[in-house]
Amino acid sequence: MRVGILAAMEEEIGLVKRAIKKRKVEKALQTGFYTGVWHQQPIVLARSGLGKVNAAAVTQRMISVYKPEIIIMVGVAGACNADLSIGDVIIVDEVVHWDLDVTGLGFELGELPFMGIKIMEAHQKLVSMAHQILKRTRLKVIAKNKPKVFVGRIASGDTFVTDEERVQLIVEKFNNLCVDMESAAVAQVCFLNKTPFAIIKSVSDKADEKAEIDFAKFLKIAAGNSFLVLEKFIKEISKQK
Ligand code: ADE
Repeated sequence: MRVGILAAMEEEIGLVKRAIKKRKVEKALQTGFYTGVWHQQPIVLARSGLGKVNAAAVTQRMISVYKPEIIIMVGVAGACNADLSIGDVIIVDEVVHWDLDVTGLGFELGELPFMGIKIMEAHQKLVSMAHQILKRTRLKVIAKNKPKVFVGRIASGDTFVTDEERVQLIVEKFNNLCVDMESAAVAQVCFLNKTPFAIIKSVSDKADEKAEIDFAKFLKIAAGNSFLVLEKFIKEISKQK
């Protein structure tokens, strides 16, 4: 079985790219699809780029061409809850589009129209596996914070959120722990293809006025922590074959 790995940015896939053995690359959709083996586990890795359309296109191509049995998305997110600090890790169990609004046709905010679904669920077994792995992983301290681990909901939209009022509005509606710009697209494409998925995110910023500065400052270290978790995930999956 092959595992698909996705992240939005080059900083987030770079470490994995360098770790892949027997690496081959196919260029498509203005990105690269890297196949090869990592700890005896066949994988396919791609950078989705930012935003939901890019993420959807890359996820669909990954599934159609490389047929991964599961997809794992890693990367950073903006925190929407005062308990979360920069560097903390969120194991995503539920995903929603915060900017999907077909209320004008009588659907709930965030609901995928005519599909009877609003909250998309990560694969339960992968969520528990991520939890077990994180208990055993010593994550790097970020901004003097020893990373804590949370399980919860992410809300995605095609906006880099930099404003606390907007965060409050999103949280009131969706009760999410964090925001990003890709997870809901990845989750929706996985749902349509019946591909189980997991999403593990590190907090890079608090989606407030300082978000742009924090994001740039913490992206690389957060990516390092994602790499540590991903590596253990891949080793665990490879053992279970
Ligand atoms: N990903 C990381 N930080 C984010 C933010 N503030 N808004 C949207 N996506 C993000």
